[in-house]
Amino acid sequence: MSTSEDRVVVRGLEGVCAAETRVSYVDGVNGELFYSGYNIHDLADKVSYEEVIYLLWHDHLPNKEDLWEFKSKLVAEMRLPAQVIHAIELTPPGSHPMSVLRTGVSMLGMFDPDAQDNCAAANGRKAIRLVAAIPTIVANLHRIRTRQPVLSADPGLGVAANFLYMLRGTAPDEEEAKAMDLLMVLHADHGLNASTFAARVAASTETDMHSALTAAIGTLKGHLHGGANQKVMEMLVRIDGVGMVQDYIHGMLDEGHRIMGFGHRVYKTEDPRASHLRGVSQFLCKRAGQEHLYNISHRIEEVVKEAKGIYPNVDFYSATVQHALGIPKEFFTAVFAASRCAGWVAHILEQYRDNRLIRPTSKYVGKYGRKFAPLDRRE
Ligand code: COA
Repeated sequence: MSTSEDRVVVRGLEGVCAAETRVSYVDGVNGELFYSGYNIHDLADKVSYEEVIYLLWHDHLPNKEDLWEFKSKLVAEMRLPAQVIHAIELTPPGSHPMSVLRTGVSMLGMFDPDAQDNCAAANGRKAIRLVAAIPTIVANLHRIRTRQPVLSADPGLGVAANFLYMLRGTAPDEEEAKAMDLLMVLHADHGLNASTFAARVAASTETDMHSALTAAIGTLKGHLHGGANQKVMEMLVRIDGVGMVQDYIHGMLDEGHRIMGFGHRVYKTEDPRASHLRGVSQFLCKRAGQEHLYNISHRIEEVVKEAKGIYPNVDFYSATVQHALGIPKEFFTAVFAASRCAGWVAHILEQYRDNRLIRPTSKYVGKYGRKFAPLDRRE
């Protein structure tokens, strides 16, 4: 066995392979993303979010009947126990939606009829309930914060369209529903990113699915991960016009700040999700009379690429897409979570199926052999 001194620390676990997975693959060199073997470019705009959830959980696409049944089950579960709605009402008005979501999911775990059952059938039922309830928590929170009644899901709509309907109170038109669905498809999974790793670490202890998802939500909240999309919007509203972009970005970089929505641990070229969202952002911004936001974004992309050689990631154009759909910026990361929960669940189920406790080691760099002094003799 190696001693602590011999151990090599890989900071940020960069390049460390910690699990086998069939769920998704990120090819950072070629800028490609695969869901269960399908290139994201072949899925985007062609499959619904429900088809992607099914694919990630079952490793194959559903046929028409399977999809109809799966979608109906999901939409029927887009509701919350009254106690959870009441708990959301009690959250401080200034608390972040991701904090409410983290607490809401944790609370759902205490009301789930399969709470203590970790068998495959119970986990299948919990998976559906959770992936349906998470967008509902986000939508309900917005309704509660804006003093409007919470709405029930419309059985005639899918998960993405229902999310917009329950959040805004008006059903999305076809273009909005398509954009929301694509946003959810593109956010559904992404290899062993930080929040997915957190979910798998928790699942590897054989804890329940709600606990593992709570760990993932807390991890996604950070602005180096899912929290970046809100920061992108905050940056965009600080920039008055395209002409200001050059000075603003160089000023930020000169002061050592990171530009949110840029760079990636794995992609060394364009994030394929950003390519799709750029187009949707341009379309929706124009439609919503917010073309200036798209133009500023596009200019930021040029300036950052020139200055740092880095590309936009999924969070960059997701900000303007969500803004144009009428989602408040404080909710952007929670919308990310409401989509990524599909992938988190797929990874949790995969971890349960072939589990080994994830328990790495550390290199001890502290002192040895210190002389202990009782409390009354310490300086
Ligand atoms: N803005 C400015 N510079 C950036 C940057 C950004 N967003 N992202 C990376 N860089 C620079 C670093 O300063 C570093 O430059 P240097 O070599 O001159 O010091 C270099 O690129 C490598 O960065 P590093 O921190 O080693 O990369 P990482 O793999 O640890 O970081 C992220 C990946 C995502 C954490 C990082 O790109 C980042 O902080 N991005 C902004 C937050 C964000 O958008 N997160 C969402 C990710 S999907």
